[in-house]
Amino acid sequence: MATTKKSFNKKYYFGGVYEDYDKFMNYKKIAHGLLRQYKFQSFLDIGCGCGNLAKEMKKILEQKYKKKCDVFGIDFSAFAVKNANLPFIKCVDCTKKLPFRNKQFDLVYIYTTYSYLKTIEDIKKAMKEAYRVAKKTIVFDDVFSHKAAMDKDNYDPYRLRFLNKGEWLKLWSTVMQKGDKARFTKHKIIITIK
Ligand SMILES: C[S@@+](CC[C@H](N)C(=O)[O-])C[C@H]1O[C@@H](n2cnc3c(N)ncnc32)[C@H](O)[C@@H]1O
Repeated sequence: MATTKKSFNKKYYFGGVYEDYDKFMNYKKIAHGLLRQYKFQSFLDIGCGCGNLAKEMKKILEQKYKKKCDVFGIDFSAFAVKNANLPFIKCVDCTKKLPFRNKQFDLVYIYTTYSYLKTIEDIKKAMKEAYRVAKKTIVFDDVFSHKAAMDKDNYDPYRLRFLNKGEWLKLWSTVMQKGDKARFTKHKIIITIK
């Protein structure tokens, strides 16, 4: 299916592909899960959709640390960003230079976004930028080992490709540096930056 930025519109998030994107996942649970597993005070969600996870994360982190925390979500969908209507949810194409400093975020989170990118070159550019702005950890979510598992979970026809863990890791290896470590969990690649 030919998708453009404009395909990620109201119909996509609310009624077309997803019934109600605000309720698609339990964002609060995901946020608490990440906080249990990793130590971080700053957080970037790349391809954040309507910004629900970043919103939860900002609230929880700021309550926990009793200070303003550096949390952002980025997505290239003008609809999703406008719908989020929050200053820390920005309209940015993740294949371009991200408007953040080197190592700005303790944790960079990517849930499925790179499966929507058009070319492998785009994926490599996006990985390079994600790596540049990450300080401690990159959590790359939604990776499958077997094609059957991928097919079962293919609820979104806008997703352009399914790579397995090895294929994703090979791409990540092009930006990782000596001393960094990568490990797998069931559906994730976790990169720990030296
Ligand atoms: C299924 S959604 C996942 C959204 C979000 N990660 C979540 O968990 O709710 C995929 C998202 O990737 C975004 N996306 C696709 N290509 C992108 C790009 N080049 N730059 C930024 N976002 C992109 C889409 O707009 C869409 O919101």
